[in-house]
Amino acid sequence: MIRGKNILLGISGGIACYKDLELCSRLIKKGANLKIIMTKSAIEFVRPLAFETMGKCEVYEDMWQGHHKEVYHIELSKWADVFLIAPATASTIGKMANAIADNFLIASYLACSKDVIIAPSMNTQMLNNPATQKNIETLISYGVKVINPESGILACNTIGDGRMEEPSNIVEYLEYYFTTKDLSGKKIIVSAGPTIEPIDYVRYITNHSSGKMGYNIAREAKKRGADVVLVSGPVNPFEIKGITKINVKTNIEMKEAIEKHFASADGLIMAAAPVDYKCKEVSDKKIKKSGESLHLEFIENLDILKYFSSKKNNQTVIGFAAETDDLIANANKKLTSKNADYIIANDLKREGAGFNTDTNIASIISKDSVKNLELMTKAELANEILNLIR
Ligand code: PMT
Repeated sequence: MIRGKNILLGISGGIACYKDLELCSRLIKKGANLKIIMTKSAIEFVRPLAFETMGKCEVYEDMWQGHHKEVYHIELSKWADVFLIAPATASTIGKMANAIADNFLIASYLACSKDVIIAPSMNTQMLNNPATQKNIETLISYGVKVINPESGILACNTIGDGRMEEPSNIVEYLEYYFTTKDLSGKKIIVSAGPTIEPIDYVRYITNHSSGKMGYNIAREAKKRGADVVLVSGPVNPFEIKGITKINVKTNIEMKEAIEKHFASADGLIMAAAPVDYKCKEVSDKKIKKSGESLHLEFIENLDILKYFSSKKNNQTVIGFAAETDDLIANANKKLTSKNADYIIANDLKREGAGFNTDTNIASIISKDSVKNLELMTKAELANEILNLIR
């Protein structure tokens, strides 16, 4: 959790400085406390006033600024929970690696006993230069963490590695960094999104699931240190780094993907909305319009949750119930008929709950209890669900 954390942000002089305005805004919205150090070169790109405004904090420029009672490069390090240097230019990385404390940022780095994270940003040739690479390796050997630069169009109009990672991903990195790894050593399978079942060569049936619920569970599980397998229907609400993702379309594909990992898993969370019915006969051609009504026969589809509940050993198996009426009664029936350990019941008709929202309202149902939760983000609900894994 970033909320309440003290983040010391060091900004060195690269064009990517402008991205830090968005970074500050995102960190403040997440509830972080900021203090900022800018190098003289950084100030050439963006005025400190912009960062004071976006970061809601003081910006330190040099050692000799004001008449400080405290020794500020020492005090800032004591205050910080983490020191993030973004962008970290080739020059700043070089000075860090070689202890050249000729500015306030580097002096603060050398005085810092907390974790230091750098987000390098520079031209591809500069990045690939053996001297820069050696300096980065040196910093890694000293325990500095590196948010690797992305590939893309650079300010010098070339395409290559060296773009500072996007602010949203830096925030994501910090979220991960600050989260307690209480699920470390656990393997968790999460299903997400809809499945589709074909009608003919061009048509299919599906439902409105966006995948947001399942993806949030996968992302939070990853942050908490779990080994995550995400089995996703044909949706992609956002990217999650560092997990195993398997894309599927039909129920049978979803079942087969889960089957590969189930025996070694500690938990299965079925947030997906698999299609309940499929066509008895699927035409391998496009069905032509005939001017008459079209009658299709649907048969019940494989129930994936029920299948794995019948195979569970030590795994915690958690299903959802997506209901439009009699929420708790129907969810209880699903708990029993599908033999799940828990059912997360959500009423699709409630404002802020169900398909394609960023929030949900759920009740956690087990054999002997019902816990009604308030409206919360899908990320918050994900953590409530992950707390159930044994
Ligand atoms: O993806 P979002 O847009 O974020 O929306 C989230 C959600 C509404 C899809 C999610 O919160 C949710 O409720 N997922 C379960 C949807 C569903 O299929 O519910 P159900 O009540 O029909 O099924 C009960 C359980 O059995 C579910 O865990 C489901 O994954 C599973 N199931 C259902 C049918 C089937 N053939 N096989 C199954 O395994």
